[in-house]
Amino acid sequence: MDECLSAQKMSDLYEHTSLTPLRVAHKSGYIDWASQPSMFKQYPKFLYTFPHPKSTSSLSLTAHAKNEALKVIELSRKITLQTKRGDKPYYQLNTPSAGNLHPIELYVQIRGVKGVISGIYHVDALNNALVLIREVEQEGIEPSVGLSEKFNGIIFIVSIVPYRSEWKYGERAFRYCYLDAGHQIGAIKAAANFCQQSVTILSEFDAKSLNTQMGFLNQEFCCGVLAIGSKTNRAVKKIEPPLMQVAPTDYYESNDFIATKIREQGVYSAIFDENNFVVEEKAIVQRRSARNFAPTKMSKEQFEYFMQLDANVSESWHVVLLKSDFMEAGVYKNSKLIKAGHFAKEITELLINQSFVGNASMIVVITAKQFNANELMNAAANAHSVHLQTQMQGVGFSGIGAFYDAKLQKFLQTKEPILYLYAIGSNA
Ligand SMILES: Cc1cc2nc3c(=O)[nH]c(=O)nc-3n(C[C@H](O)[C@H](O)[C@H](O)COP(=O)(O)O)c2cc1C
Repeated sequence: MDECLSAQKMSDLYEHTSLTPLRVAHKSGYIDWASQPSMFKQYPKFLYTFPHPKSTSSLSLTAHAKNEALKVIELSRKITLQTKRGDKPYYQLNTPSAGNLHPIELYVQIRGVKGVISGIYHVDALNNALVLIREVEQEGIEPSVGLSEKFNGIIFIVSIVPYRSEWKYGERAFRYCYLDAGHQIGAIKAAANFCQQSVTILSEFDAKSLNTQMGFLNQEFCCGVLAIGSKTNRAVKKIEPPLMQVAPTDYYESNDFIATKIREQGVYSAIFDENNFVVEEKAIVQRRSARNFAPTKMSKEQFEYFMQLDANVSESWHVVLLKSDFMEAGVYKNSKLIKAGHFAKEITELLINQSFVGNASMIVVITAKQFNANELMNAAANAHSVHLQTQMQGVGFSGIGAFYDAKLQKFLQTKEPILYLYAIGSNA
């Protein structure tokens, strides 16, 4: 998908979205939360919703449970904690998100599922409901996602709404959007694992034309399509006209840098491994990012588990081992110690003085030869799997998107772009 992007363009994009002490100093200032763009897209109320939001609680684990086939959708994207910040509700989802801004939307086409109208639905996380945008019969989304016949089952479409993140993070949001999208892809994969269903990635189609079919305005872009179900041999026509256009935020104000860059990218095309562990529902709905780590060290078993796990999730990874009784502290590259030492202070500074990371046991840094949407989504989809495994083992985890890029590269002795980091350690 990204072959058209030259190496120069990719490194320009990396540099352009890098954090430096100067840029951080310029950016850090007062944020008026009253001006936060809306975090949940809302389709018009006259559309049919399933189930009716009034009959369900947004925090219930099984609102769609009347139809087991829909559970995989509900577990893919839902609010799992609702609190208050000041007088505003504060929602947290089953997916983590940089700054908890959630620049993501999710849609599904359901076809041939007993008890459900076949159609294209918006997954309305706010109301824990499915909003029917268009019924499908002879027509469907299949031709727009590279399928020439009707597909029985569920087709998931993940989209990015950059302004929700750009509003706070400016151009750095390019990265956060795709990392959040990777977590969303990982969450779908995890829900399918729990429901014992197998997911396929669809990527052989034109993303631009899918954006048009979905009715996306220039503020929303599809970035991943996944399918659970089976192909049929029945012909299908493209939906005509495209779906209705609904703005994904209540207002929009952008310099269009991110939208322009996103238009150059395609959709998720990585070949991801099936999860090689069994996901528990509890881990999906109780997942939370660690906000602190305990000074205690992780057990030998936990430590070995997560060290070995990292070896499977990325071709290029570094671990900064901050504390362990079982291995020497220092920087490891693909399991080999390249720099011994105690680096809690250095790593805290490199991660923009986020002091809680200094108490973690290890910081995992994912790098790649290329810097593009696909690599970012892949890094985060794999990180999501690690996140759920930490949750199941009672270990703390937090994704880290804020770091001084060039300085961290220098510290790690790598020229590869840094995609994503996560901290793992004992729960505080
Ligand atoms: C892409 C990404 C980047 C993140 N970066 C940071 C970070 O730099 N520092 C931090 O403390 N948390 C970071 N987080 C964690 C979020 O702050 C957290 O997911 C959010 O507050 C919601 O909380 P929850 O994950 O418990 O639902 C990041 C999460 C994601 C997905």
